[in-house]
Amino acid sequence: MRIVNQLDEAYQLFRAERIDRKKCGLVPTMGALHEGHLRLVERARAECDFLAVSIFVNAMQFNDKGDHERYPRTVQADLDLLAAKGVDMVILPTDQEMHPEPIQFQVVPSGLSEVLEGASRPGHFAGVATVVMKLFHVLSEGLAYFGEKDFQQLAIIKRMVVEFHLPISVIGVAIVREADGLAMSSRNMLLSKEERAAAPALHDSIEVLRRGYASGERRVESLVQQAKTELAKEPLFKVDYLCVVNPATLDLLEFAEDNSRILVAANIGLVRLIDNSVVGAIDAQK
Ligand code: PAF
Repeated sequence: MRIVNQLDEAYQLFRAERIDRKKCGLVPTMGALHEGHLRLVERARAECDFLAVSIFVNAMQFNDKGDHERYPRTVQADLDLLAAKGVDMVILPTDQEMHPEPIQFQVVPSGLSEVLEGASRPGHFAGVATVVMKLFHVLSEGLAYFGEKDFQQLAIIKRMVVEFHLPISVIGVAIVREADGLAMSSRNMLLSKEERAAAPALHDSIEVLRRGYASGERRVESLVQQAKTELAKEPLFKVDYLCVVNPATLDLLEFAEDNSRILVAANIGLVRLIDNSVVGAIDAQK
């Protein structure tokens, strides 16, 4: 497995593989890898001839400095996991390599990025879109894999590829959950014992909403109320949003239907957790 710190070197390696008619894949990450990331890597490994994973804790996408400082960093363990998965290249740039100072350009999305996470975390999606655009230039052409846990991020990246005519297929991979339903996330490492015990309540609230839908309720106001009542049983959580949206436009819905998406974000202590699920289908993860 090659570890590459320079973006130009990574670009040249992808290019050489493409000239050799190899299908190239990229899994962008911020490290602190868990089973959810590994599922992306396994899927990508099965579908690509040459597979790269990037590890870069992108300060630009953190609207809160403390959140950036606290973000877990486990580079050596990450490299060991990726080597065991047969990854060909790890792209591990420095801050200066990724975002040379003085920074004068950003990819600033609108529309999809202005609601939900975007409303609560100003500048977050500009930071995400900018770093992903840079990584997509390095990949140039091929497949890129993202987790569905960051559902809004995935929607924005898919839209970015369309609007900028990038020859990259963006593939979303289903959420991986702990046995108690908590969606896997690097941020889970930051939870205290008490917070970790409380954290599955987020997924429980989604399940309450899904059950309400399965029993015939379609009014989102009533479904959301039931889910919020469930989440309120866990006083450690402070809900930011809990809603049902159109999965393509992220528009809030008044009436839920089979393909609608439940999105939830809540803070527990200093940690922000997000989760989501489709309405009206069996959650194969649990
Ligand atoms: O989902 C993440 O881990 C990050 O937002 C990403 C896509 C790697 C960009 O920094």
